Amino acid sequence: MSDTKLVNRLTICLGVEGTAHTIGVGIVSGSKILANVSRTYVPTKGGIHPREAARFHADKLKIVLEEALQKSNINLKQIDVIAFSIGPGLGPCLRTVATAARALAMRLEVPILGVNHCVGHVEIGRLTTGAQDPLTLYVSGGNTQVIAFESGRYRIFGETLDIAVGNCLDRFAREVGLPHPGGPQIEKLAAQANEYISLPYSVKGMDLAFSGLLTAASKEYYKTKKLPEICYSLQETAFAMLTEVTERALAHTGKSEVLLTGGVAANKRLQGMLRLMSEEHNANFLVVPFEYAMDNGTMISWLGLLMLQHGVRHTIEETAVRQRFRTDEVDVVWR
Ligand code: ATP
Ligand code: FE2
Repeated sequence: MSDTKLVNRLTICLGVEGTAHTIGVGIVSGSKILANVSRTYVPTKGGIHPREAARFHADKLKIVLEEALQKSNINLKQIDVIAFSIGPGLGPCLRTVATAARALAMRLEVPILGVNHCVGHVEIGRLTTGAQDPLTLYVSGGNTQVIAFESGRYRIFGETLDIAVGNCLDRFAREVGLPHPGGPQIEKLAAQANEYISLPYSVKGMDLAFSGLLTAASKEYYKTKKLPEICYSLQETAFAMLTEVTERALAHTGKSEVLLTGGVAANKRLQGMLRLMSEEHNANFLVVPFEYAMDNGTMISWLGLLMLQHGVRHTIEETAVRQRFRTDEVDVVWR
């Protein structure tokens, strides 16, 4: 296919996401979202098992793909390019999705692009909220990063040094017998609290740590059994830490927009803290709609399309997965 056809305004990109729990397919045409379909693996016991999640993705991909095509009212032959999440993420999950994406691209004889998952979160956030040049707080089960565009790249201004904030919430929930995912359960219980219990607050320069907080909250639970109070205090402490680092990055970068994304973005208390902080700095506060804040295929297809339109091409050899692919390793040629 000629390059002129590929960078047409109506170019259709199908994106596959599968870095962790979620297998998703998104289809975009130009900047129009045609479909966003996903299924999420919930471990029966304990945390996520990478190989089990990969098997889940392999099982569900067919149905997710069919539903996405149906919703967008197109057939496979109309797809102009395939994008997939090349990393960061869990090895077995990434390899499953990459294999499927390569097979699809070869069968359809269209180009393939491996895209960075975290940058996908930022770009779909810009598309769905209209943010131009935001400072982004990306908070999920696997990631916690403060990101801003600077000299051709998405730079990481702060990040967790151990576990992600969503993982901290999920593990605390599991410890005290609440169902997975823990974030929404903790948010509900926190609303019933009458008391703040002091927990360790861990900000180191621009970076954060959550494992000490997780241990202390669990210990507190075994000592006092005051579950709503501990949920409340856990949220207050973790979210104050996130807000502090975001505020410092905002002052440093001088951006005028704050964008919140990732699964934890659903939390109303976190939104409230960040909104207040943003207002104090005369910055516009934006939250990515939940459907596109969680892991989703649409962010992958949208980023794939942006890359394609700006001349990025990948050979099959270049589609090897990158488990530790960092946000700041991507050349952001489309901005
Ligand atoms: P990633 O691959 O980007 O790390 P993920 O696999 O963790 O993503 P997401 O769907 O982005 O998937 O996020 C899931 C996380 O969001 C879980 O940790 C869950 O507890 C958290 N979460 C969802 N709703 C809420 C809420 N209302 N409050 C706090 N956390 C929430
Ligand atoms: Fe994600």
